[in-house]
Amino acid sequence: MSIRFIEGEQRWVLQTEDMDYVIGIDAWGRLEHEYWGPRLASQADYAALAEVKPFRSFEDVRGMSREEIMPWHRLLHADPGLKLTFGDGTRDLVLAYDGHSVQGGELRIEMVDRLKQVRVRLNYRVQEKYDLLERWVELVNESEEEVRVERMMGAIWHLPERGNYRLTHLTGHWGAEMQLRQNGLSEGKTVLEERRGLTGHQSNPWFAVDFGDADETSGEVYFGAVAYSGHWSIMAEKSPYGFLQVGAGYSSFDFAWTLAPGESLVSPVCIGGYTRGGFGQMSRMLHDYQRERVSDRGAEALPVLYNSWEAAYFDVDERSQMELADIAAKIGIELFVMDDGWFAGRNGDKAGLGDWTPDPVKFPNGLAPLIDHVHGLGMRFGLWVEPEMTNADSDLYRKHPDWVYHYPDRERTESRNQMVLNLARSDVREFVFDSVDRLLCEYDIDYIKWDMNRYISEPGWPGQPAERQKEIWLRHVNTLYEIWRRLRAKHPRVSFESCAGGGGRVDLGIMRYSDQFWITDNTDPYDRLFQQEGYSYAYTTKQMRAWVTESPHGLNRRSASLKYRFHSAMAGALGIGLNLRHAGDEELEECRQWIERYKALRPVIQEGDLYRLLSPRAGDVSAVQYTAKDRGVAVVFLYLHAQRFSRPCPLVRLQGLEPAARYRCEQTGAVRSGSAWMAAGLRPELRGDYDSAMFTLAREENA
Ligand code: GLA
Repeated sequence: MSIRFIEGEQRWVLQTEDMDYVIGIDAWGRLEHEYWGPRLASQADYAALAEVKPFRSFEDVRGMSREEIMPWHRLLHADPGLKLTFGDGTRDLVLAYDGHSVQGGELRIEMVDRLKQVRVRLNYRVQEKYDLLERWVELVNESEEEVRVERMMGAIWHLPERGNYRLTHLTGHWGAEMQLRQNGLSEGKTVLEERRGLTGHQSNPWFAVDFGDADETSGEVYFGAVAYSGHWSIMAEKSPYGFLQVGAGYSSFDFAWTLAPGESLVSPVCIGGYTRGGFGQMSRMLHDYQRERVSDRGAEALPVLYNSWEAAYFDVDERSQMELADIAAKIGIELFVMDDGWFAGRNGDKAGLGDWTPDPVKFPNGLAPLIDHVHGLGMRFGLWVEPEMTNADSDLYRKHPDWVYHYPDRERTESRNQMVLNLARSDVREFVFDSVDRLLCEYDIDYIKWDMNRYISEPGWPGQPAERQKEIWLRHVNTLYEIWRRLRAKHPRVSFESCAGGGGRVDLGIMRYSDQFWITDNTDPYDRLFQQEGYSYAYTTKQMRAWVTESPHGLNRRSASLKYRFHSAMAGALGIGLNLRHAGDEELEECRQWIERYKALRPVIQEGDLYRLLSPRAGDVSAVQYTAKDRGVAVVFLYLHAQRFSRPCPLVRLQGLEPAARYRCEQTGAVRSGSAWMAAGLRPELRGDYDSAMFTLAREENA
């Protein structure tokens, strides 16, 4: 039983395979966090958890409470999880326990402010197999008056009292998303958040906290994520007494929500987990959870994709796309995606967004001839769209200049020559839904790449009361989810890719609807190793699209062999962005062979366990390994960045094999026990700059 209520003790125990999470009710009737960590051996252990708080002058014990959601009230001065303002100026929330229910793996605890008639529901879903908890909060206004919500977290995570907390998180910018950082946390507040209207290139809603001693293979790690694609926030506050709490939920920046009588507001779902197996185990738990619980496509393999963007940019038309498709089919591509440039007036990034009909010059007969051609070649067809946007130079904007976010008297700042449609408006919502729905109804499209190429500015919603205009941040994202939900329900066969100028929209909220992510516009195979590593801490690489593109690379002129570029991209969901029309026969044949190889190994790479053997951040050689769930096959990718002083490659020790089984290395023919591959390792022959190798190991079944 994963959720237990211990009646006489007023205590809940939420249990996963390797974790206990315990909540109690304290002497003042508040919902108190009691424990989060490895499973405890006996029920009697739980009763001993309720702590007598040490006396601290000036800090009333009631102010030291570690409440589950930390409503701002009385002497509680830690960073609150909920803050409201009532009509009479009262700004605190005094909650009392009002019952609970358990259904399957879900616990719902009801709390009420009896005076102000506001209900707070704390929801917990236990993901037993993955040692994870999902938490979210629902706020219901049961009074006769409006209530203002000023802050709403979905979870406050209280970490065990250990002084030396270390935070791991992801940061970056366009073309450099998902870079891993680790810093010790000092007293005070560390805030990770997004204020641009989408998930963000600059930070990602995921965190991990350890005690300064965890590594890839061992150590305690607490971690979490916010399943949300808009203004999210993760706030780690370390008190001078050595506690750490991590609040996760909506960002409070420019946040306001008015709850009319009877209305409710739900926080994002927040994920929290615990492991004793280091960062590697943390990632594998998250990956399994995402593949099996968040994404609804099950074990469906991601096809090898071709995308026209880096080959053609805006210069697409029926003939040249058909030519590309002909070559793509020959090298084994399974999904052919036409990127930007196909719709009316779109010859560059200055015009056309909003007018979602094929450009009559480039596609005089619509898209059907190209789509039929692609299908005739045995590939699926995908199309790029950016439905939340409009250019000033578009029929849509000329007709509806009031449909974008703006302030009445201010200039509308354009970015990439475009403006953001106000999804809070129901007419705009229907337009956006219809634009994509119409394309999917009219054409036999198998795949949509949904992009968002600018941040929101002048977030005004003219005609609405000033305070309510701040609601656009939530309304935009909630409407986006609703549109994706409706599109998926109506077109269940269609796959979706989430892209926002690269990796601006990668999170567990959109993962419920999208099948894959574009994690960065940077396709340089070496830079990518860092981004792929960072991404893999939080997200499954099954959904990480990675393309092989031209060399020297457009962003930095770095040259790398086709082999190296494939090895880098094969560590995720392989795609090709080469200009195939310029490729010679030899190059195409090499592509064909790598693609064939990838398809054979794809079940291991996409569905297997990931082991980060050597980090690109740590030295000249990096390596990742994928192992099939039954441990029968392992694939290892090794990358040498730069050989220095004629040093040979270091030994690379494998992980996750069956120690007693014997494994044959396909490339070298060597047969050794799993324990030998793991303890003694292998030494690849890598030379020079940007060299790489791939090894596959298969278990000898009858050894
Ligand atoms: C964004 C995407 C790219 C490409 C362009 C098209 O930058 O990340 O992959 O689709 O838009 O304009």
